[in-house]
Amino acid sequence: ARLLVDASQGRLIPETLFGIFFEEINHAGAGGLWAELVSNRGFEAGGQNIPSNIDPWAIIGNDSSLIVSTDRSSCFERNKVALRMEVLCDSQGTNICPVGGVGVYNPGYWGMGIKQGKTYKVVFYIRSLGSVNILVSLTSSNGLQTLATSNIIASASDVSNWTRVETLLEAKETNPNARLQLTTSRKGVIWFDQVSAMPLDTYKGHGFRNVLFQMLADLKPRFLRFPGGCFVEGEWLRNAFRWKASVGPWENRAGHFGDVWMYWTDDGLGYFEFLQLAEDLGALPIWVFNNGISHTDEVDTSAVLPFVQEALDGIEFARGDPNSTWGSVRAAMGHPDPFDLRYVAVGNEDCPKKNYRGNYLKFYDAIKRAYPDIGIISNCDGSSSPLDHKADFYDFHIYTSANDMFSKTHKFDHTSRTGPKAFVSEYAVTGNDAGTGSLLAALAEGGFLIGLEKNSDVVAMASYAPLFVNANDRRWKPDAIVFNSAQLYGTPSYWVQQFFRESSGATLLNATLLTNSSSSIVASAISWEDSENAKSYLRIKVVNLGSSSVNLKVSVDGLGPNSIKLSGSTKTQLTSTNLKDENSFMEPNKVVPSLTLLENAAKDMDVVISPYSFTSF
Ligand code: AHR
Repeated sequence: ARLLVDASQGRLIPETLFGIFFEEINHAGAGGLWAELVSNRGFEAGGQNIPSNIDPWAIIGNDSSLIVSTDRSSCFERNKVALRMEVLCDSQGTNICPVGGVGVYNPGYWGMGIKQGKTYKVVFYIRSLGSVNILVSLTSSNGLQTLATSNIIASASDVSNWTRVETLLEAKETNPNARLQLTTSRKGVIWFDQVSAMPLDTYKGHGFRNVLFQMLADLKPRFLRFPGGCFVEGEWLRNAFRWKASVGPWENRAGHFGDVWMYWTDDGLGYFEFLQLAEDLGALPIWVFNNGISHTDEVDTSAVLPFVQEALDGIEFARGDPNSTWGSVRAAMGHPDPFDLRYVAVGNEDCPKKNYRGNYLKFYDAIKRAYPDIGIISNCDGSSSPLDHKADFYDFHIYTSANDMFSKTHKFDHTSRTGPKAFVSEYAVTGNDAGTGSLLAALAEGGFLIGLEKNSDVVAMASYAPLFVNANDRRWKPDAIVFNSAQLYGTPSYWVQQFFRESSGATLLNATLLTNSSSSIVASAISWEDSENAKSYLRIKVVNLGSSSVNLKVSVDGLGPNSIKLSGSTKTQLTSTNLKDENSFMEPNKVVPSLTLLENAAKDMDVVISPYSFTSF
């Protein structure tokens, strides 16, 4: 096969072509990127009625030593449920407390990942009828080994009203399956509410688990679409994500039950934190909001204005002056400068729904009136025929088999070159071909992405989905990044995305692939300037989904006299022994890119492309 590259001609690829899509699915945020260790920190997982569901909190002690219940006596207006603990035993007298005391513990999200030498900030609120002596400790999963401990002693007058307690715990051992305990051996009644335990070393102190944040940063994403997905819609509207309930002090966030992915979130990772995450990643935020449509119920267009106002308020929260109504809430949260919100999506996958077009237009008109520069994304697919409504972008989702995904390298070849551009906000190979993240799936996606790069005159943005999975709650497979409390790895699909991290804003070069008969290879060539070291780079990417190796004769014409240096060039390859190979906690690096020197780098060169591989050089 031959690849002819003309480096003198090209077209700019959009600055925002490749980004990421974060959805609160698979415990991606709660118990994932959001570093909070306590699950159900306000005891409200059952909602605002009592008794509430305190799961996964559990009780240390028995009927004769304590009575645990919930009531609505919290000092936090939006989440009134508090835990009431009546301790019947004592350190002296007839009913002696067991060694270590009685109380409650929280195992976090399938065990807390505690690391030796790290410091954890524990915050909680208490009220009591008498003096208190509470042991705050991080322990092993059975409570027998203590990893860190702190004693909170307070007089009755100190805690007769709700009082905030903060303590730092330094772990003297590592344990991936730890729990937080609040125990006492003193008779009396204590109320607890809003219990938090966070490692001190989150990214910039912004609450993001460092190692997971780094996996995202390594992709150099140019945008962050959030917070869903179906999570935005809800199975029912009453359970959809509502941004206003997710901002302000964390203690006053009610949390909610996401009824599509079926778990409770305390909403510590709220609207503000998503905007902050985008900023920290150097990515533009793309906010997806509910447009009055869930999977099951819909608001009629005649009644959708409250939802429109909610969206306008959300934009004001992100971009408004610090003195504006909602901009001031953002400022009070520590970000007086506006966030760089330039794009919003009206709903998720709602185009086929009865009220979508009507609702969409209400949002479109109102947003354009107030914020003419905001790019608005419609849920309706404009790739085959023009949209019947105004939009700046249209959303395109694809989940399919490997062969079909690979063939979709041509999906946008015939799309109209005028009109709104595509936002391929969710793509992935799924089903048997993918398992929980196979090489096969990744290669097919690689072929698809090369097609998007080539069609980036009509495709503005693209992101894989889903991004994260906590291996303890795999609601959807495959996913790009797999983790638990202590480990993580990228699936081959994650590594394929890394091959595209220089593409956004680069120049797509004219590249012609000449093959005999095989349709199993696709290729592209890009170049980009690195202004910091005043160098130009050329990158050729090739996916070979065939079972034979290919000797690729590459000719690069049109290189400037001293622009691109070929010596010292490298070749990066992603392949493995079997197409269905996957990474795992046991073998996290089974299918990862390997780097070698490209010995014969020249403007005319032969490069061997291995069977079943993604290669770049
Ligand atoms: O990515 C998983 C789900 O797939 C998303 O929530 C939804 O938009 C799509 O159906």
